Amino acid sequence: SGALVIAVDGPVAAGKGTLARSLAKAFGLRYLDTGSLYRAVGARVLAAGGDPADPEAALAAAGGLTEADQRRPELRDEAVGIAASQVAAQPAVRAALLDYQRGFGRTPPGAVLDGRDIGTVIFPDAPVKLFVTASVEARARRRHAELQGRGADVDLAAVLADLEARDARDSGRQAAPLTAAADARLLDTTDLSIEAALETAIRMVVDAT
Ligand code: C5P
Repeated sequence: SGALVIAVDGPVAAGKGTLARSLAKAFGLRYLDTGSLYRAVGARVLAAGGDPADPEAALAAAGGLTEADQRRPELRDEAVGIAASQVAAQPAVRAALLDYQRGFGRTPPGAVLDGRDIGTVIFPDAPVKLFVTASVEARARRRHAELQGRGADVDLAAVLADLEARDARDSGRQAAPLTAAADARLLDTTDLSIEAALETAIRMVVDAT
């Protein structure tokens, strides 16, 4: 169809966003951070004073999602991340966001999509699937440094505890749990620099296409 889709999945703070964005640039593709869709839904529910775990509130927010919602300044806040994983556990919310993601990927020249279920649910036939991981300690250190860089005063132990809770929720849920597709290539970034991880990812894409 003239659209190449590269699926990049993995747990929070494994480095998949940075990798996916760089891959898109390297291969001349568009880029979609699908986590920002769930974050936008969570942020909308919170802004309206609703409960992200309430299916009616979550679905209402997912229905009216706008571009402006995807650019809200609070999207990266921890509270929004938690709300995102709560709305993401609801099948109706996931269904409401499905067509947008598929349409984005199918538009030429294609796209790199990063998320949790791109290779398993959104694009099970993607010719290239990467599953990006890192140890939970490495991910906590990176996330902590990122938060500190933005001026947030949080301790490493709290970040680690939040990551473990989010991993458990993302992996343990019924609806599209976080799991590597059987045909995904595993990329462990624990001991890799950003440059080395990108080099490895580019090689994996070239090998697969
Ligand atoms: O990747 P990010 O941390 O921005 O995603 C926020 C939350 O959205 C995740 O914890 C996960 O629960 C959910 N998510 C998802 N499926 C995706 C992308 C994100 O369930 N494709």
